[in-house]
Amino acid sequence: MLEVKNLKKRFSSGIFFKSYLDAVDDVSFSIAKGETLGLVGESGSGKSTVGQCVIRLIEPTGGTIMFNGIDLRSLNGRALNRVRPSMQMIFQDPDSSLDPRMTIGQSIAEPFRLKKVARNEVKGEVLRLIEKVGLSPEHYNRYPHQMSGGQNQRAVLARVLAINPLFIVADEPTASLDVSVQAQILHLLMDLKREYGMTMLFISHDLAVIRHMCDRVAVMYRGKIVEQGPVSAVFESPAHPYTRLLLSRTEEAEQSVKQENGSGDAKGCRFRGRCSLARAVCETTEPAFREIGAGHTVACHMTVLPKAEITHE
Ligand SMILES: Nc1ncnc2c1ncn2[C@@H]1O[C@H](COP(=O)(O)OP(=O)(O)OP(=O)(O)O)[C@@H](O)[C@H]1O
Ligand SMILES: [Mg+2]
Repeated sequence: MLEVKNLKKRFSSGIFFKSYLDAVDDVSFSIAKGETLGLVGESGSGKSTVGQCVIRLIEPTGGTIMFNGIDLRSLNGRALNRVRPSMQMIFQDPDSSLDPRMTIGQSIAEPFRLKKVARNEVKGEVLRLIEKVGLSPEHYNRYPHQMSGGQNQRAVLARVLAINPLFIVADEPTASLDVSVQAQILHLLMDLKREYGMTMLFISHDLAVIRHMCDRVAVMYRGKIVEQGPVSAVFESPAHPYTRLLLSRTEEAEQSVKQENGSGDAKGCRFRGRCSLARAVCETTEPAFREIGAGHTVACHMTVLPKAEITHE
């Protein structure tokens, strides 16, 4: 369904002198139909930028994005607008997806109207979806500000179902909700995924959530994917020192690296400064991906060491 190769996004900044940041640098992955790929990594590692590039909400600097056989980067204007509805984004904050001037019913009805569904059928369809996402008919005439965050995120999901996209990017879809509601929304997403066979890129810094929601996971560090594989393989035998750090000491790993992110220095491994295994080769040569299990790849010079030796250091 989706094949991303060598994706790159460079942000330029600086008023008096030019500086740049490679927020996404040479990222490649693919997602099969019906599959959910998790994207995990600390704040500032480039997860949202990947998600937004993939559906061309922002313009990538380089790379190719094949979506359902179409080269997305070659499209513009009308051709792009035609593909747009088949890719939807669910944001952390439901308010950014709902029009505050529209009632919940109107928001969910809009995609049906655009698809020219007969007027007298629309209301029935909307009520069916309202029920499907666990809202009730009384929410139909409410405005977003009259709903809770969790209820609004349900409405966003109902709207997404009305659009019926081929592919969804969910960027921390529960991060703004409180813990009990988070679990409900995640369960709802899982149900919908099963029922509709949705294909999804699921962004989260919460490893437990990724493990629950995803088939495969890609771990990002400072703009690069450092390890990728089936959820079971990555969680049970993490191979990259950064993945291990994420899995063991969540707090330290979650420290933002925004300040050290500006990199003109493309040589070597980006993780070497924080890595207890770093050797001379890590200073000079960027590690290439190696396959260490079925569909399980890692970019690290040091994982050739037996596991026991690594964990003792
Ligand atoms: N429009 C922009 N202009 C300049 N820099 C940007 C822009 N958007 C993002 N960045 C920078 O790109 C880097 C990656 O940002 P991104 O939002 O993709 O990270 P993230 O992994 O989603 O983080 P978080 O977990 O905090 O959401 C950050 O250093 C960020 O400051
Ligand atoms: Mg983000």
